[in-house]
Amino acid sequence: MLDFSRKLSIFRRGLTLPNEVSAILEGIGENIMLPEKKPASPLFSSGPCAKRPGWTVKNLENAPLGRSHRAAIGKSRLKEAIDRTHAMLGLPEDYLVGIVPGSDTGAVEMALWSLLGDRGVDMMAWESFGSGWITDVTKQLKLDDVRKIEAPYGELPDLSLVDAARDVVFTWNGTTSGVKVPNGDWIADNRAGLTICDATSAAFAMDLPWDKLDVTTFSWQKVIGGEGAHGIIVLSPRAVERLENYTPPWPLPKIFRLTKNGKLISGIFKGATINTPSMLCVEDYLDALNWADSVGGLQGLIKRSADNLDVLKNWVKKTDWVDFLAVVPQTVSNTSVCLKITADWFVALSDDDQTAAAKKLASILDEKDVAYDIGSYRDAPAGLRIWGGSTIEASDLEALTPWLNWAHDEVRNTFK
Ligand SMILES: Cc1ncc(COP(=O)(O)O)c(C=O)c1O
Repeated sequence: MLDFSRKLSIFRRGLTLPNEVSAILEGIGENIMLPEKKPASPLFSSGPCAKRPGWTVKNLENAPLGRSHRAAIGKSRLKEAIDRTHAMLGLPEDYLVGIVPGSDTGAVEMALWSLLGDRGVDMMAWESFGSGWITDVTKQLKLDDVRKIEAPYGELPDLSLVDAARDVVFTWNGTTSGVKVPNGDWIADNRAGLTICDATSAAFAMDLPWDKLDVTTFSWQKVIGGEGAHGIIVLSPRAVERLENYTPPWPLPKIFRLTKNGKLISGIFKGATINTPSMLCVEDYLDALNWADSVGGLQGLIKRSADNLDVLKNWVKKTDWVDFLAVVPQTVSNTSVCLKITADWFVALSDDDQTAAAKKLASILDEKDVAYDIGSYRDAPAGLRIWGGSTIEASDLEALTPWLNWAHDEVRNTFK
């Protein structure tokens, strides 16, 4: 069923009307017949993502500000963040969790610079962040035994090409294309290489097969609605073994160092961070974990995100101008939901005009305080990206969809 403003818009396009009548109808269409209800929150950014429902800065009152992070109170908060991450993600007992500088990027770089070079590496990329890790490994670390396994936006590379004798670096969920790996079945149990997984837009919203992942990274600013600045690195025993038995030939800045004299710096995994963390961010992360517990822990978080994707799936199914950028249904991300505009009028535009039209669609919703930050990533195909992670309410996505239709019709009338 088309909503009334869409019907009116279609009616308007089908008629040749005197200017005055047209202007009146336009006024009705644009001002009176706007969808009735706005989302309660317009926050649909893919990072930093919306804070959890009910968040207020008051929840951070007990942060031990002005105290040393190495004092008992600071250390205990950091340790609590580590222990509760371990428990909530259901990590195997012998896996380690560390809080490191530089958000997810810091955690990934630390892994690449500390672990690679021991053997050849397969670098998988299907969007901007994965491509960035390839650049690091080829242009900065200048490793010579690198195989690039890549795919264009919307697709996944052939996962069967990954060689279990080599290391592999990949992104679980490609945030800028909305394409995720559907599972870890392609990772060999008896692999000789390490799997290094950037899971920043997957952790807490997708089931991760921990026995298949040797190094996993993420940041707090995504699914759980925490703050940027700190990264989490999760290490399997095999990753620790590599760290303790392999020394890369290049210099390692202090900020990346996980070992000292060939031994893991175990304090990092008990709350003795490499350098000074923000205790405000730590408190905020603990608040996010409290909320996560209140919605059913990991499975509750995953369900909230799956429900969010369902709302968008239902809308896409009945909407003629839009589709997922992800080509294969099992790979459609439930967090960074990327959409392409498939309407004839849009497809007929030049690349520059497509970019302008998609930007316009996002910006008019921003101006109406309906949805902020839903334009596609700067390197991705022109379209929309709507966050459906666990802090987003399905009811807000429900309320957003008539507005998306409205905005589409507005932009089409400008560009057609
Ligand atoms: C897949 C992926 N990797 C890395 C990053 C960088 O994360 P951060 O800014 O937290 O370092 C992002 C951020 O969106 C991402 O989506």
